[in-house]
Amino acid sequence: MQVLRSVKRLLSDPSGRFGRLFKTGGPVWFWLAPPFVQRSRSRVYVASRPDSDFVHHEHPELSDLADSWVHHNPKNSFDLPRLYALAFNIKQVMAEDVPGDFAELGVFRGNSAAVLAHYARRQGRRVVLFDTFEGFDAKDLVGIDGNKGQGFVETSLGTVQSVVGDPSAIYVRGWFPGSVTPEVEDRRYAIAHLDCDLYEPMIAGLRFFYPRLSPGGLLIIHDYGGVHWDGAKRAVDEFIAGISERLVQIPDKSGTAMIRKAAERGVP
Ligand SMILES: C[S@@+](CC[C@H](N)C(=O)[O-])C[C@H]1O[C@@H](n2cnc3c(N)ncnc32)[C@H](O)[C@@H]1O
Repeated sequence: MQVLRSVKRLLSDPSGRFGRLFKTGGPVWFWLAPPFVQRSRSRVYVASRPDSDFVHHEHPELSDLADSWVHHNPKNSFDLPRLYALAFNIKQVMAEDVPGDFAELGVFRGNSAAVLAHYARRQGRRVVLFDTFEGFDAKDLVGIDGNKGQGFVETSLGTVQSVVGDPSAIYVRGWFPGSVTPEVEDRRYAIAHLDCDLYEPMIAGLRFFYPRLSPGGLLIIHDYGGVHWDGAKRAVDEFIAGISERLVQIPDKSGTAMIRKAAERGVP
């Protein structure tokens, strides 16, 4: 009873913090979030959904994509900034009519591949998915990655196909870059999503996709800022030193970074 009385007093006190809060109708987080975000050591924080989605309903497809996003992978529900960053930047490339297919190196169970495949289908593009579909290859667990264990074995091509759900997707199975076929070598790409964690496939992926990326094309690099996959970061830093574009970082869980390839149209 004492507790209830205290709560009631707080809520009815127009000069107190909580009274003001409810009187103005302001959302709780508007008042509490700034100090909370700055001081808390909590892993999870609360963020607004983008207005374009929640207020203006510009992305109705995201509710279906969110289902694929967490399928066989419930932890992904805590990484909505990554989903939004993928969707919005893919849509930007599509709106600009950058020519080419979409690709992913590092598919695992197909959660991010399903996002790429959805948007590729809308414009009659193909999605090309590269993976061993049985986890890391021992050949890559050397050098800077010699301290990493075997990972991502709990999957299969069948699992990925059911999550991606796109009969026109092209699956390139096996150790990359050895798996590359003339069919995928001759394609142009508008988007390449590199999510392969280790130095060897990451440097090979950058060397393969960057020259095949259309002007204005997008390279999405997962795990650049996440610290754990230091081999992936090293590969990106080495590669970036030799090209004219630079990285933009996204504050999602594992530190996605992105590069737009220069569109060669000069400054207006
Ligand atoms: C982090 S998982 C990909 C996760 C996925 N992009 C997602 O967000 O749902 C990394 C994947 O990279 C793949 N991979 C790493 N090195 C590879 C290589 N050299 N060739 C083919 N696949 C590789 C692994 O098999 C694994 O499935």
